[in-house]
Amino acid sequence: MKVLVVGGGGREHALCWKIARSKRVKQVLCAPGNAGTAQVARNVNVAADDIDGLVALAQKENVGLVVVGPEDPLVLGLADRLRELKIPVFGPGAKGAQMEASKVFSKDLMERHRIPTAASRTFDRSGQAKGYLESCTVWPQVIKAEGLAAGKGVYICHDLEEARQAVDAIMEEKRHGDSGERILVEEFLEGEEASVFALIDGRTILILESVQDHKQVGEGDTGPNTGGMGVVSPLRTLSTRLHRQIEQRVLIPTVHAMRQEGIDYHGVLFVGLMMTEGGPRVIEYNVRFGDPECQALMRRMKSDIVPILLACAQGELEKADPPQWDARPCVGVVAAAGGYPGSYRKGDAIRGLEGAAAVEGVEVFHAGTKQVGEQIVTNGGRVLCITAVGASLDEARESAYRAYDAIAWEDKFCRRDIGQRRPGGQPSPAEA
Ligand code: AMP
Ligand code: GLY
Repeated sequence: MKVLVVGGGGREHALCWKIARSKRVKQVLCAPGNAGTAQVARNVNVAADDIDGLVALAQKENVGLVVVGPEDPLVLGLADRLRELKIPVFGPGAKGAQMEASKVFSKDLMERHRIPTAASRTFDRSGQAKGYLESCTVWPQVIKAEGLAAGKGVYICHDLEEARQAVDAIMEEKRHGDSGERILVEEFLEGEEASVFALIDGRTILILESVQDHKQVGEGDTGPNTGGMGVVSPLRTLSTRLHRQIEQRVLIPTVHAMRQEGIDYHGVLFVGLMMTEGGPRVIEYNVRFGDPECQALMRRMKSDIVPILLACAQGELEKADPPQWDARPCVGVVAAAGGYPGSYRKGDAIRGLEGAAAVEGVEVFHAGTKQVGEQIVTNGGRVLCITAVGASLDEARESAYRAYDAIAWEDKFCRRDIGQRRPGGQPSPAEA
């Protein structure tokens, strides 16, 4: 069978790497891919948002499964188009993708179906929003642009002045473009954050191993948010009891809600949660794997992933064997270009990749890289994700940093504290 992976980041390299190891797969195609995916798949120069081009490619190559990495093609209806052609696809249709693309849509759905989340109000005019904020007596308040904003559309406002500035930034200065046509003003939730990844085949839910991103650019969780600077799996502090709570109170009601709203969801649902005193509450839904969370999950999944993805695409997850996981922990360190998440340079030659790959337990996944002649050069803000598994978390961390140190280009940087959060800094079991 041929499998087409859509996207070109670290998440997609990890997916290609895992899928290429399947006995059932003859060839992996990646559109558009990067210099890393080219080592395990055939890159095809079709952009991830070129829906016509991707549909034509899947037909021409007669692929048996399409796995969609990022949210954009899902929002644009790629999965619907493929399903019409009876091509199995891992990823929800356009309506399901609204769970991520519109915070108003997902908030309405949660409220209608009593899924625990932060209370909120929606506004489409800045004057009304400010009027409401003037009446608020409890601070902070959280202000969010409705649409996709690359993780940057959320403002935690500690007083009215900050809140007014956030409203102006989103609605008047249009900092997030059309994504800020409407805003939500949301109750501030206190607690530890956690996220959960679950495969959903329309009905059946399969929760994946625990995994945690490090979102902020600076050590000790400081500085601006990024796409993710590092990853750890599993989380020692995430109890099975917490998992059960999340399943009962959040995942099962979410799948019910989607079915009632006519969303036939086939893919992975990534739920961001706040573990409050009153139990888990949803902060946001994403309709795709996290990046770099996916890289750690792919490293730790021992089973062939292809039958699982296919079963999920075809509504037969119940019949599939659940995945087996490597008990060893995985640490992933993102190597980024100087300046990220602000502006950064592209085109620097990357050296030492072979030496890094030779470190025991290490697999280097490419994100923003490009092959230029004989050389691999930087081509994005997050350039590589260096993953390592080890007998212990310390061992995995040591290997990952040893491999990181073997790689060189001008201005590279990473966070040195991946996997070293103080125990209280990890999602707590919320044993309440
Ligand atoms: P989001 O883009 O919705 O994931 O939000 C980005 C970050 O903002 C989250 O990871 C949380 O740290 C924070 N956040 C979002 N909504 C809330 C809320 N209602 N209460 C507290 N923190 C929040
Ligand atoms: N690493 C967080 C995300 O992919 O949204």
